[in-house]
Amino acid sequence: MNEIDPEKLLKNEVISEKQIKNKVKELADKISADYMKKETPPILVGILRGAFVFLSDLLRELKIPAEVDFIAVSSYGASTRSSGVVRILKDLDEEIEKKHVIIIEDIVDTGLTLRYLLDTLSARNPASLEVCAFLKKVEKQEVNVSVKYVGFEIPDEFVVGYGLDYAERFRQLSSIYAIDTDKLK
Ligand code: IMP
Ligand code: MG
Repeated sequence: MNEIDPEKLLKNEVISEKQIKNKVKELADKISADYMKKETPPILVGILRGAFVFLSDLLRELKIPAEVDFIAVSSYGASTRSSGVVRILKDLDEEIEKKHVIIIEDIVDTGLTLRYLLDTLSARNPASLEVCAFLKKVEKQEVNVSVKYVGFEIPDEFVVGYGLDYAERFRQLSSIYAIDTDKLK
């Protein structure tokens, strides 16, 4: 099997490992300050699979106790465009009623995934419901969703690394790269 060589497969590095590390710490500090005074610890709800790397780093930078749960929704498969159809593949293990929920998402593109999850989870009557997204594509949002914590705003191009994939590849890269999808076909 070939080694992963980002230089050969990918276009350019968009966000470096160092920038990611600093940003994760900054987000964790904000969340810690905001939830410090609440009576119960927040529950971080990671959206599988893309958010698991970001969630694990964020969790370890928090200065307050936190719980973790995961939800899996249908993705684009090997396509790079959102179908608009969102389906729950794996639901939460815990009840979230009266809990402070923070949805942890890798990237907000059209906002369709998030819109669906916000509607679904708010129907379960959490004490509060916020979103923390590592990346947000600026020009692209088709659906208006409010994301309280955003890592980086990026232009509308397909990116991989730090948990984000293209057809299940490149999740293991430590920085974010733009990808030339034509090259991979
Ligand atoms: P949305 O529903 O269009 O906001 O899409 C959100 C989901 O699509 C994210 O959770 C990602 O899994 C996936 N996605 C969107 N843009 C990208 C990208 O540039 N790289 C990798 N995955 C992406
Ligand atoms: Mg995803």
